[in-house]
Amino acid sequence: MVNIDAWSVSEHEFPHEGSAQDKLVFCIRYALLAPSIYNTQPWQFEVKGAECCLYADRRYALAVIDPDDRSLIIACSAALFNLRMAIRYFGYSEDVSFIPDVENEDLLAIVKFGEKVESENDEEQDKDIFKVVTAFEKNHCAFLDKAVSQEDIDDFKTACSAEGAWLYVCDQNEKNRVVNMVAEADRIQSMTKNFRRELCLWTDKRRVDSNDGLPSYGMGFSAMMNQFTPHIVRRFAGPDKEAVTDADFAENVPLLAILGTVSGGAVERMMTGQALMRLCLLAQSKGLSVSTLNQVCEVPEMRLRLHDEINQQGRAHIILRFGYGGKIKHTARRPLESVLKVNGIPYVARSSEKVKTSQKRKFWPFK
Ligand SMILES: Cc1cc2nc3c(=O)[nH]c(=O)nc-3n(C[C@H](O)[C@H](O)[C@H](O)COP(=O)(O)O)c2cc1C
Repeated sequence: MVNIDAWSVSEHEFPHEGSAQDKLVFCIRYALLAPSIYNTQPWQFEVKGAECCLYADRRYALAVIDPDDRSLIIACSAALFNLRMAIRYFGYSEDVSFIPDVENEDLLAIVKFGEKVESENDEEQDKDIFKVVTAFEKNHCAFLDKAVSQEDIDDFKTACSAEGAWLYVCDQNEKNRVVNMVAEADRIQSMTKNFRRELCLWTDKRRVDSNDGLPSYGMGFSAMMNQFTPHIVRRFAGPDKEAVTDADFAENVPLLAILGTVSGGAVERMMTGQALMRLCLLAQSKGLSVSTLNQVCEVPEMRLRLHDEINQQGRAHIILRFGYGGKIKHTARRPLESVLKVNGIPYVARSSEKVKTSQKRKFWPFK
């Protein structure tokens, strides 16, 4: 049974009368909606009273394309961003410590659920972006031929710097060169047997049962192992569409930008994940869609070339395309019960707490 409940979480279900622990557990439902590479969802949460520990769950690490767990930490931090934003949205303060225990690399953050904030001091923008969390969708195909305004671009840059990251916006020449680099990185990766093998694992149709990965894109082991078709490999189009070709993909990219940090390290990766989530939700709240492209940053020599191309200080982490139109459906999420412990015991939802499933929305791999 595919977990479609995850996307149906509603703010009306917030347990206003519950304990801080109940409220914190509810807010974690929003964390689960964060994007992760191949939809690996490499996170674990532990709640004790008003405190939540976020752990990297390295059982879901990708040894071939993400040997340093960079994307893994970025995904966990995107989840952290959603959690913190939910706490603030429901009117409470929160306090976070990043990598709080040098002896435990898996413990990425501790979030403390604070007091009720009486004054309406929260920025309006945060409320707007929170409202689109459950609607956040990506676009892997061509965009409409409609420019992104300078005002929106400035807002995107501000959003990233608020989280400690930078956003570099490519000019037309850089855009063409970077799009070509994405295609080249796709080709390099798809020529590697271990890359295709890893991709197979995460697109296997049986992933439907574990509510992770991208089972709608599965081609089967032999087909994938004998395929050298890069645009099928990382530019998933969907069950009813052909995967986009290089040309389609490069056409009409209203905005191509690179998200990075001034230096490298675990905390910087966490800033990147939070900036990524803020940026994606801000774009969604403005009616734009986004697609995340990581292949250039995953091939070490290409990542170096990307740094030369944009001449920015520090580390480039993710390439993003922004534009209008062409959104795709959500993928499944593992249920809260499988990623959360409360007071050391795996979480069991009380029936009154269970989020109602919306029958109206369709989620892959349903057709
Ligand atoms: C660090 C990171 C890197 C990603 N890289 C890519 C990528 O290279 N290509 C891609 O199509 N999606 C990429 N994604 C998006 C995931 O594939 C997407 O979140 C996942 O398929 C689940 O989709 P959903 O979040 O819409 O449910 C990336 C996401 C993260 C967090």
